[in-house]
Amino acid sequence: MKRAVTPGTFDPITFGHLDIISRAAQLVDEVIVAVAASAGKQPLFSLEERTALAREATAHLPNVRVEPFDGLLVDFAREQNAQVLVKGLRAITDFEYEFQMAALNYDLDRTIETVFIMSPPQYMYLSSSIVRELASLNSSVDKFVQPHVAKALADKFAK
Ligand code: COA
Repeated sequence: MKRAVTPGTFDPITFGHLDIISRAAQLVDEVIVAVAASAGKQPLFSLEERTALAREATAHLPNVRVEPFDGLLVDFAREQNAQVLVKGLRAITDFEYEFQMAALNYDLDRTIETVFIMSPPQYMYLSSSIVRELASLNSSVDKFVQPHVAKALADKFAK
């Protein structure tokens, strides 16, 4: 069974993430969306909220499941019997950082391979922080996230 992990903070999950997750789901038997605690990033949504939003967003994909994690990504992948880490590459600016993470993860565990999927042009400049900023300014985010995520953002900023 080929199993891939698609890790991220998913604060919140966007169509850009979903593009990578659904394409990964066509390449392997099972995809585990690993929602990182990322405490250092002080996420807008709690780990539980980010996990629930990602679960609803991927409910239509039968071979995808969503799990929260804290700690090292390669440890999580090993626990889940996953052989591949799948990451999205948007603009060239992602490359340096992803290159460093892939090299470090390879050093930590040589049995786990990192694979990159290129984001399509319409999602090249999309990020969760752009979505959060638009929502905080009361601007529509319907082009970038699913309706339940847009609602969660509206509720969060109404508080
Ligand atoms: N479409 C849209 N946006 C995308 C995207 C895509 N395909 N891919 C990434 N992004 C955006 C995210 O929305 C996020 O946006 P923001 O910073 O504006 O909010 C940004 O890119 C960074 O993504 P993030 O999900 O935070 O991932 P990351 O690349 O910083 O890595 C982990 C997160 C969880 C993979 C990483 O921190 C990790 O592995 N942590 C575990 C600890 C560990 O093992 N450390 C050693 C690893 S070398």
